[in-house]
Amino acid sequence: MCGVNMGCVCDIKKSVDEMIERVGSSVEMAIPLLQAVQSKFRYIPKEAIEHIASKTEMTETKLYGVATFYSQFRLEPVGETIIRVCHGTACHVAGAEGVTEALEKRMGIKDGETTADGKYTLESVACLGCCSLAPVVSVDGEIHAKVDRGSAVELIEEREKA
Ligand code: FES
Repeated sequence: MCGVNMGCVCDIKKSVDEMIERVGSSVEMAIPLLQAVQSKFRYIPKEAIEHIASKTEMTETKLYGVATFYSQFRLEPVGETIIRVCHGTACHVAGAEGVTEALEKRMGIKDGETTADGKYTLESVACLGCCSLAPVVSVDGEIHAKVDRGSAVELIEEREKA
């Protein structure tokens, strides 16, 4: 344990060792193991993949194959808050493009990126299942209805004030 910070290589290795112990090391445990890693780190660090491969029957190729096949897995770090703008048909027609543009401008990032301070990740997603409320934005899973450019920016402003 180097004690530098959470997420350093030795923290990752130690955590992964515990997960392997708990979940198992056989090939069919690839998904549960990756889920455990993501649950802990909010994404799957490459060091975790390397460590799992060195300690189990799974290869890095197999693990990357699983991690890239399933959309639930992330290979890049995410912000503390994940802002998802729905770009399904109903939301697209109702102005989702403008909502994303306004959020990109306010946060200084592009769609799919995370702010430098690690606070926010912005991403476009397919239909969130509440099309009558379009355009829809989800902030850490909380749905905001009929969002426009102005109210999208307010969602960020409110969080900054809190
Ligand atoms: S298209 Fe956006 S919620 Fe369905």
